[in-house]
Order: sequence, then C-alpha cells, then structure tokens
Amino acid sequence: MAEKKLTISDLAEMKKKGEKITMLTAYDCLMASQLDDCGIDLILVGDSVGNVLLGYENTIPVTMDEMIHHCRAVTRGVGKAMVIGDMPFMSYQVSEEEAVRNAGRFLKEAGAEAVKLEGGKEVSKTIKTIVGSGIPVMGHLGLTPQSVYKFGGYGVRGKDEEQASKMLEDARELEEAGVFSIVLEKIPAKLAKKITHEVNIPTIGIGAGVDCDGQVLVTHDMLGLFEKFKPKFSKRYAEVGKEMKECYRKYIEEVKNKVFPTEEHSY
Ligand code: KIV
Repeated sequence: MAEKKLTISDLAEMKKKGEKITMLTAYDCLMASQLDDCGIDLILVGDSVGNVLLGYENTIPVTMDEMIHHCRAVTRGVGKAMVIGDMPFMSYQVSEEEAVRNAGRFLKEAGAEAVKLEGGKEVSKTIKTIVGSGIPVMGHLGLTPQSVYKFGGYGVRGKDEEQASKMLEDARELEEAGVFSIVLEKIPAKLAKKITHEVNIPTIGIGAGVDCDGQVLVTHDMLGLFEKFKPKFSKRYAEVGKEMKECYRKYIEEVKNKVFPTEEHSY
C-alpha cells in the first residue's frame, strides 16, 4: 500500500507543535526518491532548475513546459513527501485565468500537490483565485529571484524599517489570500522571526535564520554538486561535485590506458 502523503493539515499541526519542517529541491526522479526515502517533508521542484540544471543565467527563461517535464519526473519518485511545483516567470502575471490554468497543469499533468509563486500584495488576488479553484498555494517573500531586474540583484531584502513593515503586511495579505505556507528568502533573522510569530501558517526559511517553522535549501548547493555558486546561507554538507569529477578523470585515464575494462567486466 502507498505511504500516507503529507498534507497541508499535517504542516499546520507541525507549526502548532513546534516541529520543524524540512524542504529541499529536486528536479528529477532519482534525487526525489532519495529525498523521500530519507524522510524529507516537502520537495520543491524549483525554477532554480534554470540556473542549476539548464544552464540559464537566472530563472527568467524557465518555461511552464520545462517545469512540467521536471515535476513529472519528481512525482514519479515520491511516495510520502508533498511535491510543490514552482510557477515560472510570466506563468501567473498576465491574467488570473492563465495563472489558474498553469497552476492546474502542475496538478493535472505533473502530479504535484501544490504550487509556489513569488510576490506579496501584487499577487494576492491571483493567489485567492488559484486557491479558490482548489489548488494549494505556497507564497514566497523576501528575495524573489524572478524580480532580479526590478531589484537589480540578489541582495538581502527587508533590511530597513519600511521594507520590513511592507514584508510583514505582505505576509498577512498572503495568509488572508489563502496560502498554506510562505517561503522567506534572504531576509534578516529578526524579521523572519517576527513574521513567523505573526502569521498562523508555517514559514519556510532560506537565509532567514533559525526561527522559521522550517528550512529549505537547493539540494545541488548543499551537496556541493553545483559548484559555481556558494551563497552564505547554504551549508555544504559534502563536496559531491569534486568527487564526481575525480571519478570522470579516473575513468578517462583508465580507458586511455586500457586499465578498464578488465576480465571482470567482460563476457
Ligand atoms: O527555485 C527554488 O529553488 C526556490 C527555493 C530557493 C526556495 O524558490
């Protein structure tokens, strides 16, 4: 029998009990099944797939079709964790109708249980409509990479009083619009603590301190697999990228020198 899926009510219960929520990203079936086996609560099929796997400069070029392709692979590998599909740039901004249709594709075509989208007040009406159509939505405040050109970079958000109080307002508005959780990215730990205290839904932090209800990292960053980028907030639990390159070099050397294959690998 299939394992019981983690639900939105389970997450609300975890916040109440003070039990931390874990989230990591995955873009393929193998990594998703490893995360699920190890007991991760939430798997985000992030639009970070654009920088991490697809070689784009940022997340702007990522398309709905690319997201659906990766999300389908992820859900094939998952039994228990909740899978959240990240809505790419311009998949929810043009009209509410288009936003609902695209959010629905994550559930209908890719088997996700929820979607995530970036922004505060400016997207709250759209969020309300998506939630109203029966699709659970996760919000995302603070550093919102899809607005990189608007903000002119990837700096810490919410540092001054005005930005901080706007973010708190945005968090309240997202809760009101019906999101089941909010990602808080790259904001001062004190502000994340305040938002976490003020809203009744779980906050998931990335570069937002220890007081969020849960934490998320990009899996390829925490493995040291994506070596191009080492943000201060991402702990490297291994140097998998270096190890993989050592394997490739060894294989190349062994083939060139006829060390591989041996009798053992031959018929
Ligand atoms: O796309 C992504 O991976 C994300 C996380 C960093 C939260 O949005």
